[in-house]
Amino acid sequence: MDKFTYSYPTKVYFSAGCAAQALKQELPKTGKTVLLAYGGGSVKKNGVYDELTALLAQAGKEIVEFSGIMPNPTYAKVQEGARLVRERGVDFILAVGGGSVVDCCKVVSAQAMLDEDIWDMQYRSGKFPTAGIPMGAVVTASGTGAEMNAGAVITYEEKQWKGPILGTAASFAVLDPDYTASVPPMQVLSGAFDTLSHAMETYLGNSDADNVSDDVALAIMRNTVVNMRRLLVDINDMQARGNLMWDSAMAENGILKVGRLTDFQAHQIEHQLGAYTDCNHGQGLAVIHPAYYRHILKDAEAKFTRFAREVFGADSAQAGLEALTAFIRECGLPTRLSELKSKVEITPEVLRKVADTCNIIQCNPRPLEREEIYEILMECL
Ligand code: NZQ
Ligand code: ZN
Repeated sequence: MDKFTYSYPTKVYFSAGCAAQALKQELPKTGKTVLLAYGGGSVKKNGVYDELTALLAQAGKEIVEFSGIMPNPTYAKVQEGARLVRERGVDFILAVGGGSVVDCCKVVSAQAMLDEDIWDMQYRSGKFPTAGIPMGAVVTASGTGAEMNAGAVITYEEKQWKGPILGTAASFAVLDPDYTASVPPMQVLSGAFDTLSHAMETYLGNSDADNVSDDVALAIMRNTVVNMRRLLVDINDMQARGNLMWDSAMAENGILKVGRLTDFQAHQIEHQLGAYTDCNHGQGLAVIHPAYYRHILKDAEAKFTRFAREVFGADSAQAGLEALTAFIRECGLPTRLSELKSKVEITPEVLRKVADTCNIIQCNPRPLEREEIYEILMECL
């Protein structure tokens, strides 16, 4: 194990119907004016909005609505939210949605307390926020684990950049599997694949010493695969949805990263692909992972062999990669970039830009050159 300090700020409420219990316990601790933040309207169709607004009203809160947070939330949307928080004197933010809503709110929370532009502060001055408007997260689509960390992934359209901005972690998270019942099947599976990716990317960082975190990561991967397969049989299996919801939180609440370095090169490539195409995050990862792993298989053969055995019951590193590729097909996830929904045609020129601008990780099995990232992307076309 590498040296570590572990502490966590997010209290988690998990169960069917737990929003009422959570909000009754948590809202008395917050100020009167609550920013109720959500996405494109799914919460209004599935009853979550009505349930939460009733609980907020019962608690005597004044609601300020912040709606229309899009998948792959933009920097402009963050600034709109931060202006609203300042203008309306918001005391508390309740983010209701998937990773996009939660991420947008984390940065809204921090930006609202700052005079300077948060992107400039982090990327030009190398400083990070130290305060934020308190927030809670009600998860309606699982996969990213965004509800249990302070890092957000934001698309800055003018800069053709998608990447991390540090914001505020939610002080509590509501995980009710029933809230995910209305998520479209492809989003359920792409979200779960994102969870699998987080665990794989963490496990493949180049820490080679024995590490209990690796055992936990492999258990999360195995559980994610088992429960995705249960959903392929019955997409409404709520027990499986619940398992995946906690797998998702576990993969990004820091536990798997304790005492080790992480990889996350596939994520860096996918994020920049998202900056140019606005593609779905989990689907982008499903396309990129097999190609990336073909390139680094020999650089981490022992780890891939263990992954093969423990996650897919396969007997070699190569067989494990084949099993992962077959699993992606079995789930009906995309296997080529041309299958992704994209705002532009995905051409070699676009992929060159992605390869030229994505972050390059130094603590993966082998740091890649930009030319090799371009090759990987071209193999996915
Ligand atoms: O906007 P609405 O109408 O709510 O529809 C959303 C959206 O279209 C829909 N949805 C959510 N809950 C629903 C529902 N539809 C029906 N019923 C419900 N209960 O699902 C669609 C996708 O939502 P989104 O939040 O975009 O998905 P996801 O949770 O996969 O989040 C993706 C974003 O998170 C970032 C990604 O890059 C991407 O921007 N990530 C955040 C991470 C983090 N903070 O730790 C880590 C990840 O690696 C990832 O990068
Ligand atoms: Zn992810």
